[in-house]
Amino acid sequence: MGGMNGRPAAYSGSQKLLHWVIALMVFVLIPVGFYMVRRGEMTNFDAVTNQLYTAHKTFGALVLLLMIVRIAVRFSHGTPSAEPSLNRLQIIAAEAVHGLIYLALLAIPILGWLGVSAYGARGILGGWELPALLAKNEDLAKIILKYHGYAAIGLVMLLGAHIGAAVLHHFILRDGVVKRMLP
Ligand code: HEM
Ligand code: HEM
Repeated sequence: MGGMNGRPAAYSGSQKLLHWVIALMVFVLIPVGFYMVRRGEMTNFDAVTNQLYTAHKTFGALVLLLMIVRIAVRFSHGTPSAEPSLNRLQIIAAEAVHGLIYLALLAIPILGWLGVSAYGARGILGGWELPALLAKNEDLAKIILKYHGYAAIGLVMLLGAHIGAAVLHHFILRDGVVKRMLP
């Protein structure tokens, strides 16, 4: 169904599914990421730490794959026009935060993949290995993974604004914004 000016009337079912599957994965990846790094420092990389790293790399790479699908769907389906009750500033703020989240969800897993390539630790679940993007260079790996962590902190702040805005719209402004992304 098309809206006015050729934009769709709503987010499609696949856009909603991708939003919530990726949201759930990121909600797990972030705390596991921070925890596994600390656990590795405290236990000198026990077996559980290694399993957490393997799972983190696997699901992180899956987020990258799903983001590519999501961006393709966004280009082909488009996005609905802004909810009618929003003012110009709210629209600009929402679009800026959404754009930066897209950017972060590409940059973070790519930095992770580059980092583990340079480190020489590309193993993922099922005994598979991610293809190497860089030659081995441990010093470079440490720098890349530091920026992977910084970017993840940036993402946490963006998600604070994003989820804060959703709570505000749903419980205080009581407009239709959050319903647009619900099944
Ligand atoms: C959206 C996807 C991802 C998110 C949100 C994410 C998030 C995080 C976070 C929060 C940390 C802890 C940072 C720190 O304490 O310095 C971390 C660490 C790490 N991540 Fe990710 N990550 C993602 C994808 C990936 C991918 C795809 C890989 C590799 C293929 C990866 C590899 C790593 C590694 C190796 C570390 C440990 C870095 C270290 O030991 O200093 N991550 N990640
Ligand atoms: C409780 C958690 C969350 C709620 C209630 C929520 C709600 C929403 C809503 C209502 C929209 C549509 C906004 C509009 O119509 O203008 C949206 C869009 C979006 N959300 Fe979330 N979200 C949540 C978590 C997340 C997480 C964890 C991520 C990222 C990992 C995320 C990334 C995005 C992105 C990128 C968009 C823009 C979609 C587009 O226009 O292409 N959200 N979210």
